[in-house]
Amino acid sequence: MTAQLIDGVALSKQVRADVARRAAASTARGVKPGLAVVLVGDNPASAVYVRNKVKACEEVGFHSVLEKYEATMTEAELLARVDALNKDPAIHGILVQLPLPKHIDDHKVIEAISPAKDVDGFHVSSAGALMVGEAGFKACTPYGCMKMLEAIGMADLRGKHAVVIGRSNIVGKPMALMLLAANATVTICHSGTADLRAMTRQADVVVAAVGKRNVLTADMVKPGAVVIDVGMNRNDEGKLCGDVDFDGVKEVAGWITPVPGGVGPMTITMLLVNTMESAERA
Ligand code: GUN
Repeated sequence: MTAQLIDGVALSKQVRADVARRAAASTARGVKPGLAVVLVGDNPASAVYVRNKVKACEEVGFHSVLEKYEATMTEAELLARVDALNKDPAIHGILVQLPLPKHIDDHKVIEAISPAKDVDGFHVSSAGALMVGEAGFKACTPYGCMKMLEAIGMADLRGKHAVVIGRSNIVGKPMALMLLAANATVTICHSGTADLRAMTRQADVVVAAVGKRNVLTADMVKPGAVVIDVGMNRNDEGKLCGDVDFDGVKEVAGWITPVPGGVGPMTITMLLVNTMESAERA
């Protein structure tokens, strides 16, 4: 069997078209959605990510601001910028690109962002809201994965077992909570979990979010399962690849997300959705 692809590019296009309509309506009533993206230092990967985020904003008709600072910026200076953006009525979402230079405490900066503008969903208050089922911004990558499940008719996972591999604060943990909220039975694994294969073989949905190639191979997948690949790695030829052995797993799975063109575009799309929601609350 060959799995069906969950196309993150096509789904993003649909969701972004809806955001663009909402942005036009909001702008017409005097509230143009605004996102501020803050980049400190010269990490080349971060520079590409923030450029894509700003470009995506322009395409849906948002106001966007890209603030770029030297790696020598102090923590106090950055906190002062965040404070100014918190107070800026033209800005509905604030994103401070991570990682920050070593002399700046990531956590302190994220916590300085007003939860009402935390469109990344990284603030303790956003994470806590997800934990207790209150309204708050959801972290964009797991939120995008949930949208992909919804797109294939799996918005409700009652009776289904979902296995998440990886337990980062920005993907694995919030992913597990969102799957739970969708009524799934959830197991969170570490890449070093003993007999990981025995866990994943039981899963109707597997989310791989470790950041290592070939974490999930065909022998680890139940026939027909949905496989979501959050990984972004390079193979020996320097080509972009995920955590999943795509060529092997696609012969076993029922559905699979490709890399590139899967979860990646959905992450930025959900950032737009969160910013749109923030503007609609304003
Ligand atoms: N660095 C890598 N991914 C992200 C993200 O989604 N948001 C922020 N702020 N920084 C990142």
